[in-house]
Amino acid sequence: MERAAVIGLGVVGRTMLALGGEGVVGVDRDPKRLDECRGLGLRVTGDFADIAACGLVFVCVGTPRLDSGRQDTSQILGVLEALPRHLSPDAVVAIRSTVTPECLPEAYPNPIVVNPEFLREAHAMEDARQPPFVVVGGEDESARRRVFDWYRSSGVEPGTPELACSAVEAMLVKFASNWFHAVKVEFANLVGEIAEGLGGDPQHIMSMFARDRVLNVSERYLRPGEPFEGSCLPKDLDIGVATFKDLADVRLLQSVALANRARLHKKPRD
Ligand SMILES: NC(=O)c1ccc[n+]([C@@H]2O[C@H](COP(=O)([O-])OP(=O)(O)OC[C@H]3O[C@@H](n4cnc5c(N)ncnc54)[C@H](O)[C@@H]3O)[C@@H](O)[C@H]2O)c1
Repeated sequence: MERAAVIGLGVVGRTMLALGGEGVVGVDRDPKRLDECRGLGLRVTGDFADIAACGLVFVCVGTPRLDSGRQDTSQILGVLEALPRHLSPDAVVAIRSTVTPECLPEAYPNPIVVNPEFLREAHAMEDARQPPFVVVGGEDESARRRVFDWYRSSGVEPGTPELACSAVEAMLVKFASNWFHAVKVEFANLVGEIAEGLGGDPQHIMSMFARDRVLNVSERYLRPGEPFEGSCLPKDLDIGVATFKDLADVRLLQSVALANRARLHKKPRD
């Protein structure tokens, strides 16, 4: 396993230390975080000079939200700025944090890739060991290969699919996943509210819903391109809003109907 460093020892950074074992050193600027990690028996340091011999660096610093709603890029940009001074020129920098395109420098002295993390905070270690896939995005094929190889020799389940793509695609598949999870939760709550209002069992309805792996929980209806039309989807959305608005918060359905109508208006007519 190539020697690696992990910068930022929150939930994500700590799972990376656990996956990599002996061959990984963790770095954080927060002495409290360092103490916690030492207490867990992890190899950590507060000094970037200690990672000079590492061929791979996983950047796992925070990317919180500013008041404007945009991403606070200061931790990421600060680390990316500092790293090259401490690394050999062929060391690969893998951004594990969830980042927007403004975090990716146009030119960078080291090979750089985007390698998002898909774990749930409450199941961090389990999800880190059994991820749906390992995504590595970036132009440099050999840098991507080195990151995939690192995961292959780590504690990640053997045979985990490896997805190579561009940096932008890697960033977006992470955001798309979280947006989709958020939509699913709101959707389940909406159906649950209506079910309760009508005297049905929300859990039973949603477990029947999820049994449909053909249309509901599947790749169907997930191809970007056309807005929806036809005799059922637009009509049943409008009926749902008008009929159940007193039983439940139907803003999800309303906004879907609105957004789709706007898309239909933009569509060139033949
Ligand atoms: N928490 C999750 O469940 C989860 C899941 C998937 C992805 N993510 C993403 O992963 C990233 C990290 O999340 P987290 O919750 O583990 O982070 P966190 O905010 O809890 O920890 C980040 C750590 O980075 C350290 N740090 C910041 N700047 C530093 C610097 N210059 N040098 C050294 N250390 C520095 C901070 O001291 C802090 O300990 C975020 O982008 C987040 O969105 C988080």
